[in-house]
Amino acid sequence: MSVDFDTIVNLSKKRGFVFQSSEIYGGLRSAYDYGPLGVELLRNVKEQWWHSMVRMREDVVGLDSAVIQSPSVWEASGHLASFTDPLVECTNCNNRFREDKLDKADQCPSCGKTGTFTEAKNFNLMFKTHMGPVESTDNAVYLRPETAQGIFINFENVRRTSRLKLPFGIAQIGKVFRNEITPGQFVFRTREFEQMEMEFFCRPEEADEWFKYWVAERKNWYTDLGMKEDNVRFREHEQDELSHYSAGTFDVDYRFPWGFDELEGIANRTDFDLKAHMERSGKDLTYFDQEAGERFVPYVIEPAAGATRTTFAFLLDAYHEEEVRGDTRTVLRLDKRLAPIKVAVLPLSKKPQLSEVSAKLADDLRPLWPVEHDVTQAIGRRYRRQDEIGTPYCVTVDFDTLDDQAVTVRDRDTMAQDRVSMDQVAGYLRERLG
Ligand code: GAP
Repeated sequence: MSVDFDTIVNLSKKRGFVFQSSEIYGGLRSAYDYGPLGVELLRNVKEQWWHSMVRMREDVVGLDSAVIQSPSVWEASGHLASFTDPLVECTNCNNRFREDKLDKADQCPSCGKTGTFTEAKNFNLMFKTHMGPVESTDNAVYLRPETAQGIFINFENVRRTSRLKLPFGIAQIGKVFRNEITPGQFVFRTREFEQMEMEFFCRPEEADEWFKYWVAERKNWYTDLGMKEDNVRFREHEQDELSHYSAGTFDVDYRFPWGFDELEGIANRTDFDLKAHMERSGKDLTYFDQEAGERFVPYVIEPAAGATRTTFAFLLDAYHEEEVRGDTRTVLRLDKRLAPIKVAVLPLSKKPQLSEVSAKLADDLRPLWPVEHDVTQAIGRRYRRQDEIGTPYCVTVDFDTLDDQAVTVRDRDTMAQDRVSMDQVAGYLRERLG
């Protein structure tokens, strides 16, 4: 089933996934804070990406580069000149819009007038600030608008120190900043967000093959983590859509409530970036292939995903409502690896006889997984809350536990219950949670 936009935004707020930023001051438009459950989900998404892109591969290593880099980086990369969106202003209401995202080319979405737009001008999306105590043009710096350039400028450092031979990749996860003209759709388009990017360096003649390889790999990543195949599609960019550095791009799109929209771009960046940094820095960023006795500038295939946007997509995809004994049960069918809380330990009653046993059990499980110990409200309501936040297993301590030293483990998806001896619970859960 597909969920409507407001339902998921409300659930995010109500259960503590995502809050409007600066809410007590009336909120800052397009900025969001990830609450206790949201931060776990976001971390799990990033962890799964890192696991598959770095840990499981011998040809990819990681990096964490600075947000503020030399302005020369952005001159060389072309971002200062070309990282722009077309901006139009309505001369009637003075609101500004991104021309290529207008529903009707000639009608202002704010005041409804037609024929009131100014000529489009190129608006640079980089956030500019100053380094140090003096504000002058000499010390202007930029917050990075992509993590990729931090990788290119470290290409030689990483190659030398990790002694990798082509083909190899460098991966990075981190915050980026874009002064979007029209942010919106909750955390889909924000001005501060997180990217998960990998630059895969290869021989130029092998670039097409690696491009195809990464397109397939990346699709598998989403579906392996439970995203429904019907909700994911690939779309090749038209020539006029390509970024200034790209010889070819495939988007991984997700079926958002407003239609298919981008989750990730996989681009063939050719040798554009390394060449540009060589020219600007005067440093040699070529690669010497000892076996072939050749020196050349590697080509780059780049899978570039948004961590925050992807987290939102997983939330939407997992949302499920079903009828259970005349009631509507809301359940987040998140993959177990993504679920923010893996195990909830629930005493049937608040009575100390039970809650002391359940608190001890929760403490024993806590080193293994994120565990919640919840003693308040009726058991049915506590199950419903755990279903709604996607907790795969609820472990209930009841009065029989005091006699048989066993607990009931309830499965989120099937609602089936197993009676498991307390000293076997960790093993039982490990088999299912990994
Ligand atoms: N290095 C290439 C690059 O930055 P991009 O397509 O501009 O490519 C990659 O960005 C991913 O970052 C996008 O596919 C999207 O998931 C995410 N992204 C881009 N702009 C965003 C925004 N304003 N808010 C949230 N995520 C965004």
